[in-house]
Amino acid sequence: MENNNMLIKNAKEIVTCSGFTAKQGRDMSDLHIIEDGAVVIEEGRIKAVGKNDEILKSFDEKSYEVIDAAGKAVLPGFVDSHTHLVFGGYRAEEFSWRLRGDSYMDIMQRGGGIVNSVKATREAPSEELLEVGMSRLDSMLSFGVTTVEGKSGYGLDLETEIKQLKVMKKLDSCHPLDIIGTFMGAHATPVEYKGRTDEYVDYIIKDMMPLVAKENLAEFSDVFCEKNVFSIEQTRRIQNKAKELGFKIKLHADEIVQFGGGELAAELGATSADHLLQVSDRGIEDMSKAGVVATLLPCTAFSLKESFARGRKMIDMGCAVALATDFNPGSCFCESIPLVFALAALQMNISIEEAITALTINGAAAIDRAHEIGSIDPGKKGDILILEFPSYKFIPYHIGVSTVEKVIKNGRLAFD
Ligand code: NIG
Ligand code: FE
Repeated sequence: MENNNMLIKNAKEIVTCSGFTAKQGRDMSDLHIIEDGAVVIEEGRIKAVGKNDEILKSFDEKSYEVIDAAGKAVLPGFVDSHTHLVFGGYRAEEFSWRLRGDSYMDIMQRGGGIVNSVKATREAPSEELLEVGMSRLDSMLSFGVTTVEGKSGYGLDLETEIKQLKVMKKLDSCHPLDIIGTFMGAHATPVEYKGRTDEYVDYIIKDMMPLVAKENLAEFSDVFCEKNVFSIEQTRRIQNKAKELGFKIKLHADEIVQFGGGELAAELGATSADHLLQVSDRGIEDMSKAGVVATLLPCTAFSLKESFARGRKMIDMGCAVALATDFNPGSCFCESIPLVFALAALQMNISIEEAITALTINGAAAIDRAHEIGSIDPGKKGDILILEFPSYKFIPYHIGVSTVEKVIKNGRLAFD
């Protein structure tokens, strides 16, 4: 149907994840399930959700494209709130070195790592980045992702950072998935500034960020705040300027060593702080009080052979936890939502209900979109999944395999 009007009927359960803000602590377990339900979408937005018989009484099926969920479970589309999806080249060789025992940071300090992908991304024409970007988004869609955040940070010069962000804008307009852009010029120090990180920070502040803001190419600003990458003080300088320019704030925080990243995220009023493998108790407390979403990336910890972030503790201390993939060419070449679920449930002691909240409404909150997406509530975008099975409990049970049968994006069938 032309006007994105759809009626999904006969769902065994509708996992609404109802809400318009992040869910903190215990609230994360409440999925607001409607048994035997139906959903109505008009002009791409959710019009009504409720019991099947009531919906079918109130809405005329003839006015809608009807999808029969046939006794299966229905959920909101997943939100992958942390990825680096546009990059040139690959780093399979480095991955093999890591399997041999080299650490991620050793490789980075030897001149590999992020700057390796920077070289390939600088050399790649936009058309090539667009083409690989499209196929990566197709893969994400097949896992039930309907909105994805994407960062720059493989350019580290004005021209290439802008090229990456423009490719994301273009992908947003030509692929069904929505893409939220983040500027991450402070991902590493480029070779031409080697040993002069403070000068590179000046370049970001004076030359890069104002132009990215002026051309409206990104909504968030992110920094890799880590020992031997960008210090707390350098991060603070960049992010205070970013706030002045109207960006919302994200941080790669406390990933490899405990560094005060969680505390800084709270001080800055960040929307999210991400990774947090080594965050202190104080950092967790500060984030919980400041309402910073703690975005955990278990596939990265798995890929780096590091211990997982203390997600259980964060939830118990009242944080809003989101889960995301961190899809990127180095630390985590993996866009698998099923693997995120498996690791959260089996390794991090996060319940199935909490993991679903973390990938829906809390993922939406991590990109400041909880008012628009992340739950099946009237007024929100018609971004909906139908599973192959009657219950959401099959998601982590079918370990590492996608249980998503159909994906509806803005009221249109986008994957079947
Ligand atoms: O989130 N930690 C820094 N940035 C990415 C990795 C980027 C890369 O290795 O290419 C991350 O893990
Ligand atoms: Fe990342």
